[in-house]
Amino acid sequence: MDKIRIRGGNSLIGEIQISGAKNAALPLMAASLLTDKPLVLSNLPHLADISTMANLLNHHGVSIGMQGDDTNGGPTGRTLSLLAGGIKNTTAPYDLVRQMRASILVLGPLVAREGRARVSMPGGCAIGSRPVDLHLRALEELGAEISLDAGYVEARAPKGLRGSRVIFPTVSVGATENILMAAVLAEGKSEICNAAREPEISDLACCLVEMGAQITGIGSDTLQVYGCRTSLLNGTNYSVEVDRIEAGTYAMAAAITGGNIILKGAQVNLMEAVINKLSAAGVCVSETSIGVRVSAPSRLKGVDVTTEPYPGFPTDLQAQMTALMSTADGAAMITESIFENRFMHVPELARMGADVTVHGASSLVRGVKKLAGAPVMATDLRASASLVLAGLVADGDTWINRVYHIDRGYERIEEKLSGCGAEIERVSS
Ligand code: EPZ
Repeated sequence: MDKIRIRGGNSLIGEIQISGAKNAALPLMAASLLTDKPLVLSNLPHLADISTMANLLNHHGVSIGMQGDDTNGGPTGRTLSLLAGGIKNTTAPYDLVRQMRASILVLGPLVAREGRARVSMPGGCAIGSRPVDLHLRALEELGAEISLDAGYVEARAPKGLRGSRVIFPTVSVGATENILMAAVLAEGKSEICNAAREPEISDLACCLVEMGAQITGIGSDTLQVYGCRTSLLNGTNYSVEVDRIEAGTYAMAAAITGGNIILKGAQVNLMEAVINKLSAAGVCVSETSIGVRVSAPSRLKGVDVTTEPYPGFPTDLQAQMTALMSTADGAAMITESIFENRFMHVPELARMGADVTVHGASSLVRGVKKLAGAPVMATDLRASASLVLAGLVADGDTWINRVYHIDRGYERIEEKLSGCGAEIERVSS
């Protein structure tokens, strides 16, 4: 199993190209199930989760062709063409779904197009129990009959889905995406209320519109969808938006090392809550013609952060912010309001000398003068990223185990960081 070794102490100076967003790419790929015409997606990141989704779609009968790969220079990312001419299998099996919870995103499109779908129920994971009840209740609102059998969710709508008003009691990114895709093929009008407003949802909605779907309210918490038949949808060519979470992670990498980097392709409008907190901590963030520049003094100030649905501070940057605050002057209260168990990075950061105590949904971070390198364990994707950040400033060597978590969401992380002066390498054992 690979490990990452980091020798801390170097300030990051240079440029980092930000990749396409994993969390936008996954639902966009699932949207290919809605049409029998080719959907060509460019700027897809090279990540394990993208391959897992491609395998799952292929299992359902989607032909996938690679159209280009331009990671060396130019815009990053690869281009895939996805053609769901006919659906040959409506079951998403356990062996594929257990590799990635986002597999549940095929449920809505499959039942909408085929009138039935059977998807292995995703289990809990390291950041919380993560139920899918909101996805299922919303599909029931559109007329699907839902049952659970032997660990599988079965959705049936033999006469097709029908448009309806769906009111989410809690904001859910995945459930909004699933229902948005399903509503595109439901008969009549649907209204999705208390929809998540994450940029990844707007990206999906904009692609669906290019495919011929009628959707209004994009970017707001109420989406109206006027359904149509599969045969009325087109294919399209669509470029996946830039990864705001990857950009935020590297912004914090620059900040924790007192560095100065340009995040090429990053967009300030997708990162406002993060930029506000970084600025309050003493980081200088500015827009440039090619992206976002981040520069920081050697010491930052502690700032309190609460995670919230977009446009609030993203939960996917909470662990990295905790690492950043661990060497800031003063204290920071970090409150996690989205997931109930997203503090698995705290004991690992503590092994490196961070002074962090968890109290319910909050962690109190008291900044220390120095972190010390140590062997640590990645527990989930963003927790791993926080350990990388800590390793970049720690004295001595940090060894990060279980780096397959990092590979799910950060493309070529060692290359991107070493290109800015970090001493970081992947070691195969
Ligand atoms: C998406 O997960 C992201 N994943 C997550 O990114 C991200 O952390 C999360 O949104 C929140 O921003 C992808 O986009 C693939 P939710 P998702 O449904 O859709 C509860 C990363 O590191 N809930 O918005 O699964 C749920 O337990 C990942 O890249 C229900 O109760 O998140 C959570 O407390 C991790 N019932 C809250 O809602 C449901 O049916 C928000 O979850 C669904 C969710």
